[in-house]
Amino acid sequence: MSITIKDEQGIQGMRLAGRLASEVLDFLTPHVQAGVTTNALDQLAHDYITQVQQAIPAPLNYAPNGYNPYPKSICTSINHQVCHGIPNDKVLKKGDILNIDITVIKNGWHGDTSRMFVVGEGSIAAKRLCAMTYEAMWHGIVKVKPGARLGDIGHAIQLFAEGLGFSVVREFCGHGIGQVFHEEPQVLHYGKPGTLEELRAGMTFTIEPMMNAGKRDIRETGDGWTIVTRDHSLSAQWEHTILVTPTGYEVLTLSEGSPPLPSFVTTSSC
Ligand code: MF3
Ligand code: CO
Ligand code: CO
Repeated sequence: MSITIKDEQGIQGMRLAGRLASEVLDFLTPHVQAGVTTNALDQLAHDYITQVQQAIPAPLNYAPNGYNPYPKSICTSINHQVCHGIPNDKVLKKGDILNIDITVIKNGWHGDTSRMFVVGEGSIAAKRLCAMTYEAMWHGIVKVKPGARLGDIGHAIQLFAEGLGFSVVREFCGHGIGQVFHEEPQVLHYGKPGTLEELRAGMTFTIEPMMNAGKRDIRETGDGWTIVTRDHSLSAQWEHTILVTPTGYEVLTLSEGSPPLPSFVTTSSC
């Protein structure tokens, strides 16, 4: 296997899938409130994806090598949960921070994106972790252009995160995406500039840094999916699906409800 280059038709497919994934987050946003269960969010998202968007929730029954089939349509990771949290019947509480990760398949193409939500009034520390993880993702995105290397992306994210005193999770990374959910390359969120694969126009991959308030160490819980911080510190993650254009990048997972770009970013497409 090697890195796939999408042609114009593939890019159109990825644009549609990416926008739909982001629109699921827009749809869910008013429902993310204290007292709501993550199962309710999962059900709402499942119905919206399958009935309104006529698309497929990629996580449902997804079973990579060595994993049990994932039982739900979305991932919901709360507080010290890093990623791949499984929706359940617990209610959200004021002050919780929550990542919702959506992947849809439309006409065979995948769009993958996640955002952080703060339930009610979050603590200053929780809000800062969420905001800085968003900026960290964008520090990676703006490095994307033909001729740059994957190590440039990882380095930019690591430098920014660690400069603020946060840690970067190493065990999970961004990934190539297209007609396959997780394909080559791996997109590490740490590294050295000028190293690893050179970017070429037509590549599509995600950038999805996970940042912890405490140490970077993680462990898998007994459900076989949910990843948590070992020290139980808060963790945040944001994710976009990116196209390498002839001159830079295009963020494919944008919609009306996407948060504004950080002040150091001038455009979502160049
Ligand atoms: N959407 C996740 C990612 O960003 C993967 C979730 S796999 C699942 O790569 F099975 F947990 F849904
Ligand atoms: Co992803
Ligand atoms: Co995702």
